[in-house]
Amino acid sequence: MLAQQDSMAFRKCVQVLLRYSLAPGSTRTHPRFLHTVPRLCSQSQTDGSSGSKVLVHFVNQSGVKSSVFVTEGETLLDVVIKKNLDISGFGACEGTLACSTCHLIFEESVYDKLEPVVDEEVDMLDLAYGLTKTSRLGCQVTVERWMDGMTVHVPQEIKDQRGKQEAVSSK
Ligand code: FES
Repeated sequence: MLAQQDSMAFRKCVQVLLRYSLAPGSTRTHPRFLHTVPRLCSQSQTDGSSGSKVLVHFVNQSGVKSSVFVTEGETLLDVVIKKNLDISGFGACEGTLACSTCHLIFEESVYDKLEPVVDEEVDMLDLAYGLTKTSRLGCQVTVERWMDGMTVHVPQEIKDQRGKQEAVSSK
């Protein structure tokens, strides 16, 4: 199981590195890039056996609440996938900052304490439907102890910015 997770983490890191290094006008030497890639790689290598358990509530597009205990250090994208939460179209690009389908809306008191947003995340958020002042991308937010009991909301509509597929709630 751990070997499989390590393999997935490695693939995710390679995807991110290739995406940025092959893009026209590559930003691979930009300080924001140097900050983002190690964070993506280290987050995805969480083995799920260490760290505290944190209670997180997700409210999906239909208003259905799911409460799960998650491992500190996982991203919210990891949580949705591992717990198989019923959130339509979530995490289409697997955390490579290319889709914005992992858009989540946070409580203001939680949002204010989150790690600063990087330029690449801002670019994706700008394209997201239903953007709010407390919106973030779930693939960029790591669960920490202090988040215990928080509730995150999935916006009513999401769109895959890669243009390959669209997932819109039934409202
Ligand atoms: Fe695609 Fe987060 S999963 S931007």
